[in-house]
Amino acid sequence: MNVKQQLENMIAEAKEQVLIVKSIHELNEFKSKYLGKKGSFSEIAKMMKDLPNDEKPVFGKLTNEAKQAINEYINNQRVIIEEAIINEKLMKETIDVTLPGKEFGIGQTHLLTQIKEEIEDLFIGMGYQVMEGPEVEIDEYNFEKLNLPKDHPARDMQDTFYITDETLLRTHTSPVQVRTMLDNSEKGPIKIICPGKVYRRDDDDATHSHQFMQIEGLVVDEKTSMADLKGTLLEVAKKMFGSNRDIRLRPSYFPFTEPSVEVDVSCANCNGKGCNICKHTGWIEILGAGMVNDKVLEASGYDSKKYQGFAFGMGVERIAMLKYGINDIRMFYLNDLRFNKQFTNE
Ligand code: PHE
Repeated sequence: MNVKQQLENMIAEAKEQVLIVKSIHELNEFKSKYLGKKGSFSEIAKMMKDLPNDEKPVFGKLTNEAKQAINEYINNQRVIIEEAIINEKLMKETIDVTLPGKEFGIGQTHLLTQIKEEIEDLFIGMGYQVMEGPEVEIDEYNFEKLNLPKDHPARDMQDTFYITDETLLRTHTSPVQVRTMLDNSEKGPIKIICPGKVYRRDDDDATHSHQFMQIEGLVVDEKTSMADLKGTLLEVAKKMFGSNRDIRLRPSYFPFTEPSVEVDVSCANCNGKGCNICKHTGWIEILGAGMVNDKVLEASGYDSKKYQGFAFGMGVERIAMLKYGINDIRMFYLNDLRFNKQFTNE
């Protein structure tokens, strides 16, 4: 058998045998059987030495071609094996996409947050800035600069958690207004709302909570009047309770405002005619407000001859309770999903 034939036989055998190989490991063995150091070709190469010189190039060419052919069979089979491995894996990992999925509970914002954000949006639309401040405050900002010196009887209106003689849990977000006025180095106009948690030493019951959420507002400018205050609060009432609502102001007292008012909204339930919800008055109290007391402006460095201001403060829980007929303030803090999930913000 001449060399050419021997090579051709080898090619034919490899072509057939490679098809039986089913794993990469076996394929590697197959490859070394033919092409490895001790493989078939090294045997053939040994024959080269004994050939006459003029036959050597032809012999070389034939062996190279044979090697190439076998290499190609091996590579083709490698692709086939790899595909088969992937296919087998895919088969094993087949999932039934028509099976019902596991329910994944998606959270939502709390009702108080929703209302806070609605009110923020309203005021941002009117050119206000949203300001925040610390919940642990100093007495000076929570009381003194708001015209509530240490022995002032009105301090009793806001029974306070004291941490030391001079630090406390803020009883309202008014100290954020003080901070904003103090920080305003030009002593120029201010238009802010201050949302946040506040604390009072109340025993928790259906209408009291030792922690609740407030949104207060402050405008300081030249020629600010009670009419501006009333117009602004009418917008709040309409946004929260519907476009047909009206408001009325009743005289009241706060140390930081003069004059001071309580603000009522016409009852949305009976449209002002009188019902259980409004205790047959047709009106429901929603917030306190007034023109900023000159002493408060002066205490934060404002010239009260040049500037006036108005301020207001509302409890977010109270607004939510009125709006949705919730009769126990504690519901906001129990984290009972049956309650929380009733108020979607879509
Ligand atoms: N700071 C007052 C409170 O917490 C609310 C208020 C703010 C009243 C501004 C009038 C003006 O009770």
